[in-house]
Amino acid sequence: MRWLVTGAGGMLGQDLCAVLAEAGESGVVAATRAELDITDADAVRAAVAGADVVLNAAGWTDVDGAEAAEEDATAVNGHAVETLAKEAGGRLIHISTDYVFAGDATVPYSEDAAPAPINAYGRGKLVGERAVRAAGGYVVRTAWLYGAHGPSFVRTMLRLAGERETVAVVTDQQGPPTWSRALATQVVALAGAAAAGRATPGVYHGTAAGQASWYDLAQAVFAEAGLDPDRVRPTTSDRFPRPARRPAYSVLGHARWAGTGVSPLPHWRTMLTAAMPSLS
Ligand SMILES: NC(=O)c1ccc[n+]([C@@H]2O[C@H](COP(=O)([O-])OP(=O)(O)OC[C@H]3O[C@@H](n4cnc5c(N)ncnc54)[C@H](OP(=O)(O)O)[C@@H]3O)[C@@H](O)[C@H]2O)c1
Repeated sequence: MRWLVTGAGGMLGQDLCAVLAEAGESGVVAATRAELDITDADAVRAAVAGADVVLNAAGWTDVDGAEAAEEDATAVNGHAVETLAKEAGGRLIHISTDYVFAGDATVPYSEDAAPAPINAYGRGKLVGERAVRAAGGYVVRTAWLYGAHGPSFVRTMLRLAGERETVAVVTDQQGPPTWSRALATQVVALAGAAAAGRATPGVYHGTAAGQASWYDLAQAVFAEAGLDPDRVRPTTSDRFPRPARRPAYSVLGHARWAGTGVSPLPHWRTMLTAAMPSLS
């Protein structure tokens, strides 16, 4: 198959390219932002024309920055995705987010739950999702990603552990800490299932099983690093005001994987242990 990976220089993009390389795929065009700006419609048309599968890992990921620049964020996360979706149709797997949900649920959001974003980033991502669904493509929503490439909460905790005696971390947001490498493997498997006719287009949730608060995750990171988890102290998000509101509850259900032959991702705690050697 001929693959196009957009956003190939990002955290997930680099892992997608690594997974494809390990799988022995040779027809991979790994397009970083410098090589393919997805807001350039002509360049997108030309790039998509030569691909059997398009994995869109490009995105405006500055959630707080999007509040003051919603048009710019939506140009990337919404309108550029509309072009990609029109060109690629069912050949597109697009990465979206838990931030399309309000976060006021108490049980995991199903793939069909009604989106209601509470910040500018989420609104822009929803524009993109809707375009992909209308064009018959695949949406994989993920959340709370960390990985070997680029900054993430887990890597920040590892750094702070070396700099401070205690670290205050919020207890009042629940989510599924998800290793980008495991997600990349799942996305590539979804492409295979789609090509084999086992996965219908629509929304899939590429997040870890289980749930944790950022505080739980920080404690687990300290424990994995052989450090005292009690150096992580509980606090609440009202102590850390930020421009963009965050959903309090970001746990997603995984029912849509049934019958595809692709496994849902493992429990977040198991995944963290597997990921640790690649994170320091
Ligand atoms: N990280 C998370 O916790 C999380 C959670 C939910 C969903 N997601 C989604 O997962 C996907 C991958 O995110 P990530 O975590 O890998 O973030 P990332 O490391 O910031 O990667 C995003 C990549 O997209 C590139 N990009 C930005 N604007 C572009 C444009 N106009 N054209 C082409 N490329 C562009 C960025 O390049 P520059 O760095 O040069 O700007 C970066 O390489 C995104 O769709 C994101 O919304 C992430």
